[in-house]
Amino acid sequence: MTSMFSSVKMGDLTLKNRVFMAPLTRNRAHNESAVPSGMAKIYYAQRASAGLIISEASQVSPMGKGYVGTPGIYDETQVRGWKEINDAVHAEGGKIFMQLWHVGRISHTSLLPDNQKPLAPSAIRAQAQTYTESGMADVSEPKAMTEDEIKQTIADYKHAAQCAKDAGFDGIEVHAANGYLIDQFIRDKTNQRTDNYGGSIENRARFLFEVLDAVLEIWPAGKVGIRLSPTGTFNDIADSAPEETFGTIITKLNDYNLAYLHMVERFPGIGADNKDIKIIEDLLKLWNGFYIANGDYDAMRAQDAVDAGHADAITFGRPFIANPDLPKRLEIGAELNEPDQDTFYGGGKEGYIDYPFLEDSEAA
Ligand SMILES: Cc1cc2nc3c(=O)[nH]c(=O)nc-3n(C[C@H](O)[C@H](O)[C@H](O)COP(=O)(O)O)c2cc1C
Repeated sequence: MTSMFSSVKMGDLTLKNRVFMAPLTRNRAHNESAVPSGMAKIYYAQRASAGLIISEASQVSPMGKGYVGTPGIYDETQVRGWKEINDAVHAEGGKIFMQLWHVGRISHTSLLPDNQKPLAPSAIRAQAQTYTESGMADVSEPKAMTEDEIKQTIADYKHAAQCAKDAGFDGIEVHAANGYLIDQFIRDKTNQRTDNYGGSIENRARFLFEVLDAVLEIWPAGKVGIRLSPTGTFNDIADSAPEETFGTIITKLNDYNLAYLHMVERFPGIGADNKDIKIIEDLLKLWNGFYIANGDYDAMRAQDAVDAGHADAITFGRPFIANPDLPKRLEIGAELNEPDQDTFYGGGKEGYIDYPFLEDSEAA
């Protein structure tokens, strides 16, 4: 039996356990400056016992923003804000990766500079909603990116990767999951381009690999991970042949020797059927590196997945929101605090930095 709670090597890092914290958008950053809030320092430091923290998704540029109150990683003030967070996590003995994000078409003109239309591979509006300053709204109709805009966006990823390095992160995760920009290029429902970035799987994957090549000019491969969601439908995304599309991508990713592949296997509120689970298992047969599994894992399923060789580590999302000391609780089989969905997105310290640690509950 491989212990979930002993150290593990992943890429260039040695991590203290296999209980990782999933990327979790919490919409508490300063909306205009996109600087993380002071509370975020406490929030992340409280969770430093995770083997690895993956930060909330952070936009690589102002055009990459899709929701109110999400942090950015493209200017000096944001770098300073993140540096304080990273210093606090490191002081507690934790490790933290930055999740680099561009939402593409999942945005609203009111969130973008000069009320521009969101960028996307093709001008196809998503049947999806986003959270704006005036509440939930249907996402806006996007514009199809020109080749110059594609080049600029790749340069934005590279710049953000440098900012993440300057801010003292231990590595970066390229967010290519959940129906955001990179995923929009990958899948044929959202990519109907007829140039080098559309059509064949190789062309649809071109944007992803150009982004990877760009960030790898800043970071060694052993400190770069990637997140995919081959069976996901969130944000109105779909592909006519996910096994083939993602099979081609994962096979090619092997050549990159990345720190890890991270997949969302199940989505909150959406039951994964057997077909989806089989797709993930088949795709994993192609992958030679470190694998992080995510989605609805509890202590037992996580341990089983590690023992069966299905995964090298597990990211926990909602359990980590409610349990800052999740690894300890899982290890000793302690009761878990229940997450409060009403405080997931936005708000103050309630439901953010006030979930009790085990010691607090015992003292009470
Ligand atoms: C409040 C909330 C915010 C999320 N934000 C992100 C995000 O920023 N980036 C991302 O890739 N996934 C995000 N997700 C998805 C989670 O990382 C994870 O895939 C999902 O919660 C399933 O894992 P769980 O069952 O352990 O919660 C979010 C999920 C929740 C509930």
